[in-house]
Amino acid sequence: MTYLTVPLNSLHRRGDFSCGKVQLDNYLHNQVSQDVKRKLSACFILQGENDVIKGFYTLSNDSIPADHLPSEIRKKMPPSYTNLPTTLLGRLAVDKDFAKQGLGELLLLDALKRSYDISDDIGSMAVIVDPLDNNALLFYKKYGFIELPDSGRMFLPMKLVSKLFVT
Ligand SMILES: CC(C)(COP(=O)(O)OP(=O)(O)OC[C@H]1O[C@@H](n2cnc3c(N)ncnc32)[C@H](O)[C@@H]1OP(=O)(O)O)[C@@H](O)C(=O)NCCC(=O)NCCS
Repeated sequence: MTYLTVPLNSLHRRGDFSCGKVQLDNYLHNQVSQDVKRKLSACFILQGENDVIKGFYTLSNDSIPADHLPSEIRKKMPPSYTNLPTTLLGRLAVDKDFAKQGLGELLLLDALKRSYDISDDIGSMAVIVDPLDNNALLFYKKYGFIELPDSGRMFLPMKLVSKLFVT
């Protein structure tokens, strides 16, 4: 399987990355390596020349309470599942120097492809995102993510993700 991204490694120039959102920049500068070491998240890098980071995203196992789902989806799930397995696309960002060139879309598709592939091995019925602000919410909405009431989270059913990749 070919992906556009590679796992984060120690040569990647994390300190130079700037997407304009301090929280995401600080995460990449200061925390991500520890999270990866502790298996809290996996981080994938869209790299340029000389180990420059053009963009990145993180994935983790997650779950959502079944009663957070819209009723038309919940009623298709077996009632014995109080929590449903999902994949968390925790963070996704593009460096300002490479913004508005379609890389955000490419990163999102790469993340969805990995999430879909993983779901063959470890059950996951949706990809979840936690949009940082309204801009992020609009970005994810454009690609079909649905807002979950009350939690501030958004989700894309794996059934829809599969339509992107199954021919
Ligand atoms: C959101 C982000 C990843 C977009 O990256 P990008 O490479 O500039 O986006 P692309 O060039 O791939 O644009 C893809 C589409 O999304 C739209 N888009 C991009 N940023 C958007 C935003 N902030 N709000 C709404 N739509 C947006 C673009 O207009 C484009 O649609 P179009 O083809 O119809 O014009 C980037 O702006 C970023 O890193 N922001 C800071 C971090 C962040 O908010 N991440 C998301 C939440 S964790």
